[in-house]
Amino acid sequence: PESIKVGEFARLINKPSSEIIKKLLFMGVMATINHEITFETAEKIAEEYNIIVDKEIKKEKEEILINDFEDDEESLQVRPPVVTVMGHVDHGKTSLLDAIRHSKVTETEAGGITQHIGAYTVDINGSKVTFLDTPGHEAFTAMRARGAQATDIAILVVAADDGVMPQTVEAINHAKAANVPIIVAINKMDKPNANPDRVKQELTEYGLIAEDWGGDTVCVPVSAKSKIGIDNLLEMILLVAEIQQLTANPNRPAKGIIIEAKLDKGRGPVATVLVQKGTLRIGDAIVAGVAYGKVRAMVDDKGRKVKEAGPSIPVEVLGLSEVPNAGDILYCVSDDKTARQIGEIRKNKERQEHYANTAKVSLEDLFSQI
Ligand code: GTP
Ligand code: MG
Repeated sequence: PESIKVGEFARLINKPSSEIIKKLLFMGVMATINHEITFETAEKIAEEYNIIVDKEIKKEKEEILINDFEDDEESLQVRPPVVTVMGHVDHGKTSLLDAIRHSKVTETEAGGITQHIGAYTVDINGSKVTFLDTPGHEAFTAMRARGAQATDIAILVVAADDGVMPQTVEAINHAKAANVPIIVAINKMDKPNANPDRVKQELTEYGLIAEDWGGDTVCVPVSAKSKIGIDNLLEMILLVAEIQQLTANPNRPAKGIIIEAKLDKGRGPVATVLVQKGTLRIGDAIVAGVAYGKVRAMVDDKGRKVKEAGPSIPVEVLGLSEVPNAGDILYCVSDDKTARQIGEIRKNKERQEHYANTAKVSLEDLFSQI
């Protein structure tokens, strides 16, 4: 439908119908609760409340109202930087993250690390930093492209004994496309054949000129294995983050991105969510792609149950109806019914697209047979 009932609209944006009717009157529209108004009109009114009708949602007509409003300056608070570790396969991304985590995780917490969720928050001298690991295999290109979008800083891991490789270049391109600052970690410096100068030389071909070569790219020599240069790297991350002045409003319905998701035998669909705005809480009604549900439980990166997660914090979320895709946006919506409705509309749309494609393929097949 291209229109919505005033009453329904009021309920969706959580405002009294009387207020909406008054606003309509000011716009020269006489209406009661049961009158239908166009989406354009609804959009205008939503704007007055600082509620932005989500673009993606709008395309799906019926799901016009997910509260993805822009936050006032005053509501913004400092949030931790989200740092994505990228680079060629086997250059040491996961090892580097492990080194960072273990140098900062206390004994008691270490025992609590039960599962690898590919996202961790560490405390560096009182400042939190969230790290995202990305798999190096080519098949994960799509996810990595999305990863860069959830990211404030990219750490480009290049093995000092191997140099710039195809997926190093791919990672550079993703970071550049997302306009994210790059910090280069020249890893495996402990190896006898490590050649950091060769790495710097090769990087110049992609517009990354090291600081000591007269450019502005921060290059930090490290060894994940021997734990060399880790503190230096962390210092650089904090420095770059400080310049960015990263903020978000923690006091609003949550919006986040699915980092990874899987079907767990005992627990059902489990999604790792990076909260980007607002605070996600147990009991919240949520949608992520075609999946919908209610936050039943949340587990942090140290395997502890938590009741809420604020901006830049990764958590495992239980309670979705099915496994969403990595890169799907998670929204907290007004209630369970709305969440289900949105999920079902999206699912229908997906189904229609699927059948449309299938039909086309078989038709082509038919012609090729003749
Ligand atoms: P993918 O996730 O498969 O892309 O790999 P990755 O980039 O996460 O690399 P990973 O951390 O799994 O390391 C790959 C191999 O390099 C492992 O055998 C590590 O032990 C080794 N390695 C990682 N860092 C270092 C290092 O600093 N020095 C040495 N000598 N070996 C390292
Ligand atoms: Mg890895």
